[in-house]
This record gives sequence, structure tokens and C-alpha cells, in this order.
Amino acid sequence: MNYKIALIRGDGIGPEVVGEAVKVLNTVGEVCGHTFAYTEVLLGGCATDAVGKSYPDGTAETCRACDAVLLGAVGGPKWGSDKPAEQRPETALLAIRKDLGLYANLRPAVLRPAMAEACPLKKETAERGIDLMMVRELTGGIYFGQREKYETEDRGMEAADRMAYSEKEIERIGRRAFELARLRRSKVSSVDKANVLETSRLWRSVMHRLAEEYPDVSYEDVLVDNCAMQLVRDPGQFDVVVTENMFGDILSDEASMVTGSIGLLPSASIGDAAPGLYEPIHGSAPDIAGQNKANPIATILSVAMMFRYSFHLAAEADLVEQAVDSVLAGGWRTPDIAKAGETAIGTVKMGDLICEKIRELHK
Ligand code: IPM
Ligand code: MG
Repeated sequence: MNYKIALIRGDGIGPEVVGEAVKVLNTVGEVCGHTFAYTEVLLGGCATDAVGKSYPDGTAETCRACDAVLLGAVGGPKWGSDKPAEQRPETALLAIRKDLGLYANLRPAVLRPAMAEACPLKKETAERGIDLMMVRELTGGIYFGQREKYETEDRGMEAADRMAYSEKEIERIGRRAFELARLRRSKVSSVDKANVLETSRLWRSVMHRLAEEYPDVSYEDVLVDNCAMQLVRDPGQFDVVVTENMFGDILSDEASMVTGSIGLLPSASIGDAAPGLYEPIHGSAPDIAGQNKANPIATILSVAMMFRYSFHLAAEADLVEQAVDSVLAGGWRTPDIAKAGETAIGTVKMGDLICEKIRELHK
């Protein structure tokens, strides 16, 4: 098969990690008999520099003509919160998610076997293993509600951000979570703040309705503050965690940290129609950009998610994940995951080793 992939290299370390992921795509293509055609798409701070805005006209159309989108990272201090919205990389990221209808953000937090000692939690906790899937609602809630800033008579400036959720939005993300749980360990933990927020009470009532439709999946409500605590106390208890946009933003960073390296974690953003968007969880790390120091594994594992969720190529997805695990088991480390005294390898070498391993495993 021939697949069309939009490449958003982005800012900071984005271009370097996407470069390695493309090498992996081509290697898998070669050994498994697929071809990939790439379309370069400009988005983020680099787009602001080139054309004056972070989300150039026609971006969504170009992406829609592809089967999947691979994104490196966007952002950097050069395009900070003091800049107008249309120049900020974050604006572009939110806009493309909305325009492509990518309402479900899947963020697996997995403690890979070779990395068990990188887990910052107690040894007994790490030994129980961590393998959870955070399902974050991505196109609704407070990140997309009306924003206001206005002068008051006696309290100075005031600002407000509206948080709204419809039953329809809640139901479609909820269904995703239950369907995913069926393919995993059949447990859904729904995170909300129903003791305070009206949106959370609606969220909870829709989730309860769905839970009845999926009697084979075990279900629990977890308050967001408790969830934040449970993630560091005993993350092994979670299978699928489903939550609204802002809670998911925060909790997914926390979940990634308990696995020991944010440089290893991929993500998928999907909707009801192609293309899905795949990107590492980490940011653009401008401090190490262009130095061949970035860990390309999160982006490479995002390619595995692309195989699994957009192309339905499960064997190819497994192949990439096995290659990554095997290179890590061989002791190879980029600087972010190397322990004191261990020699680290660069971005390109890590990509090469994974490609080599893919060829070897496929024989
Ligand atoms: C993320 C990021 C983005 C988000 C920002 C950059 C808009 O933090 O992907 O988690 O909050 O969605
Ligand atoms: Mg975030």
C-alpha cells in the first residue's frame, strides 16, 4: 500500500526527531512492502518566522489530503505569550486539532521493561508495572471556551475562561475509552471534579450511561485531585483513564513523568475520520535543539501508533515497538535517559540502531 503522510517538523528538536521517525517509516516500508509519500507542512514558530503566522492558510486542507499527520514539536521562547495569538505556536496546535476534528487524544504511559529503574517511584511500585492509556478530550472544554479580559470598576482587570461540555462531546470520547478498554484490561477510570463543577456532573452522568452499555468493562469515578495522588502512589491500578481537556493535559504530564522519561512517550490524536495526528508528548526543547542530543524514541513510537490506529497495521506497529525495546535492552541511551557515568548516543545513532533492529527482527 501507498500511504500519504503530512510532516510537520516544527520547532526546536522537532525537525531532528521527525527526521529519525521518517527513517523508521522508510525502513518499515522497505521490509514490509509499503511506500510512504510525504508532504511537508509548515506550522508553529517556524511558520510565524516564514509567513507571519503560526497556522498558515490551507494547513488543514493539506493535512486532510493525507492519510496521517506526523508532528515533531512546536513552540519556543521566541514566540512567547507576549506575542499576538496568531504568531504563537500553541494557537496553531489547538487550531489544527479542532479543524481536523481530533477530539480523542491517546497518551499511553508505559514503563518499558528495560527502563524500570528510571521510574522515580518506590521499587515495589515500579515492579508492579505501569501500563495505562490516558484518553484526553482534545477539542472542547476550557481550552476552547470564550476568553475574556476586561476592566472592572473596583477590582482592576479581570479575566475569565469559559468551560463548557455537551453530552455529545462527552459521549463520543467516553465511547472511545470503553472501546479501547475492551482491547486492553477492561477497566475505565473516569476523572472529573463532580463535587464542584457542573460540567463534571454532566460528564459523570454520561459516563454512567455508557458504563451500563459496556457491562464487560469495569468502571470507576475518580476525582481529579485524588487521581493526581493515585498516579504517584500506585499508577499500576489504572488501565484506561478518560478525562476532559485540561485535566488530561495536566495528568498526562504527570503520568509521563512517573514512567521515568518523557522522551519515550508517544501520542495519537484521532477523530471520526482520517487523518489522525501523531506526535511525541514532549515539547520542542529549544535548549538542546540542533545538537544531536534529543531522544527520537517518542516520535518513533508515535509512528507505531500511526501504524496501529490510522493504517491498521498491527504487525508493523509491534515491529517498531519491539525494535525500540530491544535497542533499550541493549543498553543504548540518549542523554536524557542515560544514568550518571553511562555514555550516551546521539539522536541519529539512536534512529540508526532502531532501523537496524527492525531489519534484523523482520528476517
Ligand atoms: C499538550 C500541550 C498543548 C496542550 C499546548 C502546547 C497547547 O501542552 O499537547 O499537552 O495543552 O494541549
Ligand atoms: Mg500539555
